[in-house]
Amino acid sequence: MSSSRTSDVLVVGGGIIGLVTAWRAAQRGLATAVVDPEPGGGAAQVAAGMLAAVTELHYGEETLLALNLASARRYPDFAAELTELTGHDPGYRRCGTLAVALDADDRAHLRELHALQRRSGLESEWLTGRECRRLEPLLAPGVRGGLRVDGDHQVDPRRLAAALVAACERTGVVLHRSWAERLTVVRDRAAGCVLADGTALSADRVVLAAGSLSGRLAGVPDAVLPPVRPVKGQVLRLTVPKRYAPFLSRTVRAVVRGSHVYLVPRRNGELVVGATTEELGFDTAVTAGGMYALLRDAHELVPGITELPLTETRAGLRPGSPDNAPLLGPTALDGLLLATGHYRNGVLLTPVTGDAMAHVLTTGELPEEARPFTPRRFGAAAREEQPV
Ligand code: GLY
Repeated sequence: MSSSRTSDVLVVGGGIIGLVTAWRAAQRGLATAVVDPEPGGGAAQVAAGMLAAVTELHYGEETLLALNLASARRYPDFAAELTELTGHDPGYRRCGTLAVALDADDRAHLRELHALQRRSGLESEWLTGRECRRLEPLLAPGVRGGLRVDGDHQVDPRRLAAALVAACERTGVVLHRSWAERLTVVRDRAAGCVLADGTALSADRVVLAAGSLSGRLAGVPDAVLPPVRPVKGQVLRLTVPKRYAPFLSRTVRAVVRGSHVYLVPRRNGELVVGATTEELGFDTAVTAGGMYALLRDAHELVPGITELPLTETRAGLRPGSPDNAPLLGPTALDGLLLATGHYRNGVLLTPVTGDAMAHVLTTGELPEEARPFTPRRFGAAAREEQPV
């Protein structure tokens, strides 16, 4: 059976990015629908939820830094607004982060990061190993120094996703719990999509926000297909029994022999340990090797973790883009917009993405802060401009 239901905006993908886009669009009076078999699922069910604009700074990503910082600044109001609207607290916690080094190579790496942070005008303080242990007494005696970053906080992505589903429901967003099978294009314009059961949904604008699956929707012309690929991250969860609390008071992270490891403590006793970075296509298997690497590195940082119950192992897929930055706004196909490619920063960038997408959907223009992230930077014209 096939029917057609019409909206102003149809969002394909109900992860946190699709949901925040739909919620903000509906708040601005647009009739909005979301297509996803499991709204609130996806990478947010795996992510640790670090809001790490400063500790995850990389060379050459200054433009992205500005967007990351803009989003981090919005988090307190964003979380409060969601809580007030829905009664769901997304678990925003102003805990700060300590990035530590265990050997001379890691220490040199951290020193370089510190210099880059300072050049970028960011707050970050170098601490000796002893000062690190004074802040976090369970750190290994071998910690050689670290960076105290009091502005990198955390949110609980699962609670955030639940709050966004509730916010969409409260704001009148229609949730189609189904797979989008194909984009509909009519006279060179995106016009809706067809669901797995054959239902046709029509819309004035379609936003493709399907995370790592964004490059796979049938019917999207090759020229505007987002250059997004899955980057696997394995994560495990430990539980801190009440008698050990507080185990860690802030996020603790390190690069151990070149691999990132982080431990994110929640108020409810959950301790999230992540994450691997693997280019293996759409594989989401949890592997012995992945868990071994995480536990080995986390144990070097905080030996006491071996006492904690291991309560969950999971793998998710980050939507990687060619420059590690998101793709936001209109494509070269009329009526088709993107909100995808957030890679390591999807949770952090949720507030600013919602604002940017609602702005472009109502005015036709991206706000200033989001303009560098237009998908057109990867279009055919942009490719022709590249030096060979
Ligand atoms: N931002 C953390 C991660 O992608 O693992």
